[in-house]
Amino acid sequence: MTQHADLAPDTLTVAAGRPPREHDSPVNPPIVLSSTFHETAPPTGSDRIYARMSNPTWDPFEEALGQLEGAALPALAFASGLGAAAAALSLVPTGGVVVIPRHAYGGSVSLALAEEARGRLSVRQVDIADTEQVLSQLDGADMLWLESPTNPMLEVAETAVLTDAAHAAGAAVVVDNTFNTPLVCRPLDYGADVVLHSVTKYLAGHSDVVLGALVTSDPELRSQLTSYRTLHGAIAGPFEVWLALRGLRTLALRMERSQANALELAVRLEQHAAVQRVRYPGLPNDPGHERATAQLKGYGGIISIELGSREAADALVEAVRLWLPATSLGGVESLVERRRRQPGEPTTVPEALVRLSVGIENVEDLWSDLNAALSSAANTR
Ligand SMILES: Cc1ncc(COP(=O)(O)O)c(C=O)c1O
Repeated sequence: MTQHADLAPDTLTVAAGRPPREHDSPVNPPIVLSSTFHETAPPTGSDRIYARMSNPTWDPFEEALGQLEGAALPALAFASGLGAAAAALSLVPTGGVVVIPRHAYGGSVSLALAEEARGRLSVRQVDIADTEQVLSQLDGADMLWLESPTNPMLEVAETAVLTDAAHAAGAAVVVDNTFNTPLVCRPLDYGADVVLHSVTKYLAGHSDVVLGALVTSDPELRSQLTSYRTLHGAIAGPFEVWLALRGLRTLALRMERSQANALELAVRLEQHAAVQRVRYPGLPNDPGHERATAQLKGYGGIISIELGSREAADALVEAVRLWLPATSLGGVESLVERRRRQPGEPTTVPEALVRLSVGIENVEDLWSDLNAALSSAANTR
């Protein structure tokens, strides 16, 4: 597969992961639906033996994502983001310690806590925006889990400082880069060991796929993660991976539009009488603004707002017509959800917090729907 180190990231999303340029060959990689592959004599030493170990449809996606994250090696596709998280956590030795943001994606925290409950490892939950607190928890840690901005509180960590401190303490650093995508941040550049994606979200981008991925430049880590994937066996389906590569082709345009829409909506939401607080790192008075500006190439497409009460938040989700009331994020369509509706959400997330995943629709249509729904929700007690 061609390396494109010289290309800009938005070009890479289009150019990476193409089949070799040969006469009559397709410009897009085909979906290979085969569970097994011809054997040759003598054996070649390739892992193209059985489709749980490797699959030709994974290769172009893994190649493209690896290049986008600036990795020296292709990514690894997993059946879901949480499947990728389980593989990443498996790098913690038995009896080891994981430091994780208390407001990281709820599934990742629940998974770490479930591992703790069965005695596999111990978990230290931290306020990831509080650098001093995180530093104080790194002694004896085996892994620092970073998610920045966090889901759904949108707290921003000092990622490079924490990564250096974790390494000095002997801990590996895993970064969930789902919210940012490699177009907004490349954690390997500041020294992270493993990058995680819920590909389900922005990378695939159309809310029609569940998929995950891990990226690393370390051959030893990649080999351990590959063994985990092969042995645990919950692998990605070829069709899902093919759809994800198709989605990746438009990532730059989708991110540009979604972020522009989000910034415009965040500014307007700040002025709305029914909104008590807007969390969006793109707003100059957001606590994470300075760090986000220094560390990221954009502020993302997710906004969290707090209304006057849980009832008002529920009423907002009921009242929207264009926005879709659903969980998840990062698709072309705008989604709205009161996060505490999810049973696993920590109680430190306010009951009246509503997460907005801003899509690529016309911003005026999004605003008029939201504005009307907010005004009607404000009358709910
Ligand atoms: C930040 C983040 N990481 C990981 C996941 C888990 O990904 P998946 O749903 O693909 O398993 C999610 C899902 O919402 C997420 O938002």
